[in-house]
Amino acid sequence: MSAGDTPRRLNVVVGVTGGIAAYKAVGIVRAFVLAGHDVHVVATENALRFVGRPTLEAISRNLVQSDLYEGVAEVKHVAIGQAADLIVVAPATANSIAKIAGGFADDVLGNTILASSAPVIIAPAMHTEMWQNPATQANVQLLRDRGVVIVGPAVGQLTGADSGPGRMSDVDDIVAAALGTVTAQDLVGRRILVTAGGTREPLDPVRFIGNRSSGRQGVAIAIAAAARGAEVTLIAANLEVESPSSIRVISVGTTSELAEAVATEAQTHDVVIMAAAVADYRPEHVAESKIKKDAQGDVLDLRLVRNPDILKSIAEHRLPGQLIVGFAAETEPDDVKLLAIGREKITRKGSDLLIINRVGWTEGFATQNNTISVIDSSGTIVGEATGTKLSVANRILDLVSAR
Ligand code: CTP
Repeated sequence: MSAGDTPRRLNVVVGVTGGIAAYKAVGIVRAFVLAGHDVHVVATENALRFVGRPTLEAISRNLVQSDLYEGVAEVKHVAIGQAADLIVVAPATANSIAKIAGGFADDVLGNTILASSAPVIIAPAMHTEMWQNPATQANVQLLRDRGVVIVGPAVGQLTGADSGPGRMSDVDDIVAAALGTVTAQDLVGRRILVTAGGTREPLDPVRFIGNRSSGRQGVAIAIAAAARGAEVTLIAANLEVESPSSIRVISVGTTSELAEAVATEAQTHDVVIMAAAVADYRPEHVAESKIKKDAQGDVLDLRLVRNPDILKSIAEHRLPGQLIVGFAAETEPDDVKLLAIGREKITRKGSDLLIINRVGWTEGFATQNNTISVIDSSGTIVGEATGTKLSVANRILDLVSAR
């Protein structure tokens, strides 16, 4: 599969079966939602004894399907499976593995799996004796032979006092294995550094000068790069969004903290993507205690000094073969003038690629979607994209991968 074929927003079915590890399925659902996918939970009746339907519905943002005889007119016993891009069964009990291997269709999950041609990923969770039982092992082998991906189980503490193989694998490992089956692994072996968010410059212990960047686009790039097999480091400046725990994150606040982290991390990464909105100025003096208005009068004068230009500096000191990508968030409404600003900026900064996006009171910041043009160092437009920040992230990575 080429990167261009990668489904952008996946329809993921998470099958939850009746084991104590069902509570961890909530984390799996959450991870897929955070990564921008549409998640439908299919739970067995026993799974719902371990984890509540409202929890799964709130986290997945969709109704949980568990009853074969509910909504029969929608023919959902086949519809859910037909629409799925990916089916992840986690936790999978010994009983559910046996039923899936045997092709049973006495519940919604069994029907969904039989009616689907999507990759199936199974994360077993059970006691060691049950896992090692020849019946379970034969069922697992049968599923493997049919192309089902088995993730785990891990070795560790089980529900009781015992420990051994049988513990469900970590949520992040299951999600990564699942996404790996449908995503082109074109960035394996690449180390990618992404900065996201907006820096804040303190005025006093309670106030700062900042910007409206939420970090969504940068986090989407980090998530997409990790899904395509890259080893990703995210330098996060005051994010408004969560980032998955599978990604290594370095938190920073100010531009100088960001500059220091980038300078260190750039030494060990093949690609640096500067998606962070960086404060160009900082207060010359930071007050030790809260600035009081009575001491200031009607006008408060602030003296700001220039911050270092991080992108320019890493581009100047780039390692051989290292790819440097910058962003230009601009309010210019005219497309021709916007492109001219981008061309001037890439020349001034010296990056290999520049992502130009328009921002404004209602555009760019804190929104789910984005529109970008990408230019190379000669000023030629090499790519354009509009859509969710995850799909835009994948388009940017297509250009990175091509280089
Ligand atoms: N950037 C940086 N260090 C700065 C300012 C910006 O590394 N001190 C990076 C941003 O992360 C982004 C790119 O440079 O990738 C362009 O940022 P932008 O704010 O658009 O550029 P400025 O240098 O501020 O240029 P101008 O003032 O002309 O808009």
